[in-house]
Amino acid sequence: MSLREKIEQYFAAGAAAVGDAEAMAAFLAMRDALEAGDVRAAEPDADRPTGWRVNAWVKQGILLGFRLGQLEDSGRGLSFVDKSTFPARRFTAEQGVRIVAGGSSVRAGAYVARGVIAAPPMFVNVGAYVDEGTMIDSHSLVGSCAQIGKRVHLSAAAQVGGVLEPVNASPVVLEDDVLVGGNCGIYEGTIVRRRAVLAAGTILTRGTPVYDVARGEVLRADGEKPLIIPEGAVVVPGARAVTKGMGQEWGLSVYTPVIVKYRDEKTELSAALEDLLR
Ligand SMILES: CC(C)(COP(=O)(O)OP(=O)(O)OC[C@H]1O[C@@H](n2cnc3c(N)ncnc32)[C@H](O)[C@@H]1OP(=O)(O)O)[C@@H](O)C(=O)NCCC(=O)NCCS
Repeated sequence: MSLREKIEQYFAAGAAAVGDAEAMAAFLAMRDALEAGDVRAAEPDADRPTGWRVNAWVKQGILLGFRLGQLEDSGRGLSFVDKSTFPARRFTAEQGVRIVAGGSSVRAGAYVARGVIAAPPMFVNVGAYVDEGTMIDSHSLVGSCAQIGKRVHLSAAAQVGGVLEPVNASPVVLEDDVLVGGNCGIYEGTIVRRRAVLAAGTILTRGTPVYDVARGEVLRADGEKPLIIPEGAVVVPGARAVTKGMGQEWGLSVYTPVIVKYRDEKTELSAALEDLLR
């Protein structure tokens, strides 16, 4: 039986799988494969309209892991590796500074490629795939099963939503060389194509229409199709007038992301990464 078939079988078994050593072995094999990048929650597939195939069985496997696991003391000591020239400072009580414990954590079952840089505090959840050269800045979240490409910059406090439930929901995908500005939020299976730029504070969900003023169209999620930000789009947070009811009478506007242009030389300058930090 393939790993996929085993996972599907133990997932379908419900509570009967708890305590079954073979169910645990199947889950651990899948977790190892996720960590090695051999198995992914979603992967590029040119035959699909979105360009991505969702492997629902992987999410079933992750949920199986939650079912099989028990609470345990998971403190295993912390591990940090950084340039010798910038060691962590140490403080004593006499200095009168309170340092509240914090840090970063990458959960088992997440793939993190070589060359990824993670600034604390940040969290990478199970099933996530973070490819080479990506920067995960402070206060960022890479949610469960999110697929992050090569050389992506997740700026401070960028939130990439996770998807475990429902099992067939598509993960958020950020393709190669995407720049996500500070405080952005990308949720509900949104796909951000290569080299797109999200200005600080841009929020994208299934329900968020995106006004592409550069090409004169409105982009929306529709049925199976998630919200898709086109390659190279520069998206900024904007507002649009409410055109009906009390909202109109009161002169209200609502938040809306706007594609103001497609990446140009000016954007390259704004988005340039600092090699020295690598
Ligand atoms: C999007 C960004 C990269 C700028 O890209 P750019 O190609 O240099 O954009 P431009 O300056 O040419 O602006 C293009 C248009 O978008 C508007 N715009 C740019 N950034 C905007 C923003 N953040 N919010 C609203 N409008 C914005 C500009 O006013 C301009 O419109 P105009 O021509 O009508 O004046 C930059 O604004 C940004 O958000 N960078 C991320 C910064 C960040 O989060 N750093 C994290 C550090 S941890």
